[in-house]
Amino acid sequence: MTNPSLLILPGDGIGPEVMAEVRKIIDWFGAKRGLNFDVSEDLVGGAAYDAHGTPLHDDTMARAHAADAVLLGAVGGPKYDVLDFSVKPERGLLRLRKEMDLFSNLRPAQCFDALADFSSLKKDVVAGLDIMIVRELTSGVYFGEPRGIFEEGNERVGINTQRYTESEIARVARSAFELAMRRGKKLCSMEKANVMESGILWREVVTEVGRDYPEVELSHMYADAGAMQLTRWPKQFDVIVTDNLFGDLLSDLAAMLTGSLGMLPSASLGAPMANGRPKALYEPVHGSAPDIAGQGKANPIACILSFAMALRYSFDQGAEAARLEAAIETVLADGLRTADLMGPDGGTPVSTAGMGDAILAALD
Ligand code: NAI
Ligand code: MG
Repeated sequence: MTNPSLLILPGDGIGPEVMAEVRKIIDWFGAKRGLNFDVSEDLVGGAAYDAHGTPLHDDTMARAHAADAVLLGAVGGPKYDVLDFSVKPERGLLRLRKEMDLFSNLRPAQCFDALADFSSLKKDVVAGLDIMIVRELTSGVYFGEPRGIFEEGNERVGINTQRYTESEIARVARSAFELAMRRGKKLCSMEKANVMESGILWREVVTEVGRDYPEVELSHMYADAGAMQLTRWPKQFDVIVTDNLFGDLLSDLAAMLTGSLGMLPSASLGAPMANGRPKALYEPVHGSAPDIAGQGKANPIACILSFAMALRYSFDQGAEAARLEAAIETVLADGLRTADLMGPDGGTPVSTAGMGDAILAALD
């Protein structure tokens, strides 16, 4: 059997810095756990623009399609602000998501015990929190037609359209039910069926798909009530599935329940490929952080946790993913902190490489 392939796109700013730590972790799994990947690396974002005049070369796009999973760092930076919209670094990432048709965006909100004090919420509200938001990523109001700014009478009118087909709802619902089956078997679907027809259809289709998953306890909630419940008592949830717009807001809200941008991974999944694995892109939620780039200050954990998600969702290595997460928990419990995880008078932070090395040591 050939090794599964992993395409690494470090990108810009702190992207290459945090990805260097992930490379160490990947090597560790090869050497110590016999888990080998065919790893190749390519350019995306500003780095690709500098080399090729485009934020994503066609060859890179083809390699992403062929890879078993893609792991991306971050794109963008002030240097590229002057570029035309069509070649901005972010366009490279958008093209990957669109052409790979990554309709299911997984954003965990997970609280490491050692960081429970770091949350803006009370410790007992977030300690032990482990929920997953599934956001529909390729349809809805960000894509629906008609859209635009038009003249109507003697004033302008701005129009966007919330539009979901049955199949678009069904495929993201199915991915959320599959996820719930591997977790706590609880799924809450959020929409605004009280005021939106697309929400009524959403609720109907999720309910229909749910008949294939009798073991999963399905509930429905209006998205505004969901926002309240997420801050009041987030531990009532396991998996949440919602549309593109509500998911954008709710996943950011849920993410911040637990602390720093430097801790947050994500996965974007598409339809299964011939080998049964979903098309998949894993990336930290944060951007290229130009304010700290090149200084060895970046927290590599978000990117390392993104690789843990790849182990779990692309390579069926849930136990190895848990091993990696436990190593991170150990290092945090030992008190190691990158600068982003410290208050104003928090002591001496550890560097990007220092954090990566400590996680390796904990793995050993
Ligand atoms: P950002 O996420 O890059 O940074 C926001 C703040 O969080 C900064 O103060 C940064 O230092 C800090 N931060 C982020 N990641 C960190 C980490 N791993 N460790 C420690 N601190 C961290 O968002 P910002 O500043 O709005 O955008 C900067 C650039 O990144 C822009 O060009 C933007 O377009 C791009 N961007 C790219 C994304 C992506 O590649 N997926 C997502 C968000 C922004
Ligand atoms: Mg957002």
